[in-house]
Amino acid sequence: RFSVVQTAPPDSILGLTEAFNADPNPDKMNLSVGVYKDESGKTPVLKSVKEAEKRLIDSETSKGYLSIDGMVEYREDVRRMVFGDAIAGERVAVLQAPGGTGALRVAADFMRTQLPDLRIWIPTPTWANHPAIFSAAELPTSTYRYLGADRTSLDLPGMLEDLRENAATGDAVLLHGCCHNPTGIDPSEDDWKQIAKVIADKQLLPLIDFAYQGFGDGLEQDAVGLRTVLEQVDEAIVCTSFSKNFGLYSERVGAISLVAADAGECEAARSQLKRIVRTNYSNPPRHGGAIVATILADESLTALWKEELEAMRTRITALRESFVQTMESTGKGYDFSFLLRQKGMFSFSGLTPMQVDELKSRHSIYIVGSGRINVAGMSESRMQTLCDAVASVMS
Ligand code: LMR
Repeated sequence: RFSVVQTAPPDSILGLTEAFNADPNPDKMNLSVGVYKDESGKTPVLKSVKEAEKRLIDSETSKGYLSIDGMVEYREDVRRMVFGDAIAGERVAVLQAPGGTGALRVAADFMRTQLPDLRIWIPTPTWANHPAIFSAAELPTSTYRYLGADRTSLDLPGMLEDLRENAATGDAVLLHGCCHNPTGIDPSEDDWKQIAKVIADKQLLPLIDFAYQGFGDGLEQDAVGLRTVLEQVDEAIVCTSFSKNFGLYSERVGAISLVAADAGECEAARSQLKRIVRTNYSNPPRHGGAIVATILADESLTALWKEELEAMRTRITALRESFVQTMESTGKGYDFSFLLRQKGMFSFSGLTPMQVDELKSRHSIYIVGSGRINVAGMSESRMQTLCDAVASVMS
């Protein structure tokens, strides 16, 4: 019976890492998947994480199941990190989830089953897995303009017009809380105010994907957009990931936070979210959440983690600068200075699918087909090689 099964295409992001792993070229470079690498090309385990794990080995007494919504301390940590004092705790239902993707799928299932007339508006472009998750959950999607015609800035008028004119009152809108994936282009604080106003006027439900908190300008600064929106509306869903800011990629550590108008509505929504979790993966994995809770319960570990996070952020900024300068120094008039205005791991290079293909086939340099480059995967020692290759496919 399996003869009827057709081969699916490889994943547009993770499929490239599979191809990269199979590439025999010793000089290959993987700038596709959003994973931070240090100068030696490794994705390190943070020192704060290692220390927390040591403590957990000594203190852990049981591998019994967590509750459906996860660890209490962890949920409280997420609530504080995402919302600060902006929202009363009784209006927020936080559920620990297996990564940002797990949280998004729970959110999509919740919207599809509990808010059946709703359609979600997603930016063009967005993370390739967003439409895939919504389609898997059978949640209808439409797109709003995000990337400007110059492909280096935000099309704010287009975005506002699409949400104001085309979205129906009460629809949902997907926003990237910070470090927009794949473009690295974020709204300014003033842009966020205008976005928040349209969301409030049209009573849209914001679904905020918050996977890069701390990778833009800092933990608190990166929450400004989300909190600006929440000043205007009393309902929202936030999907958190700690893959990047704690470097816990493979531990699958995330959360879904639902903000409701009052405590009663919040509890009803929580009960439905729990039902979705129970029929999907039953309850979340413990280890990654326990690491985060251990770090955040200890002042010195928290301070160490914040230092390590800042070091990652600062290194990415330095790599952006170095890439721009090295491209300029090729003397062929390549101006990539727009990268300096972009935030987080990614930038939209402007390379065409053909150039991306050439980078792969001629230089074993892997970037996503859309032209998205993972700046956090670059290294200073190989910058010249990278820029020479980019220049060669552009000429
Ligand atoms: C990315 O966009 O590369 C990351 O969010 C990793 C992933 O799962 O795609």
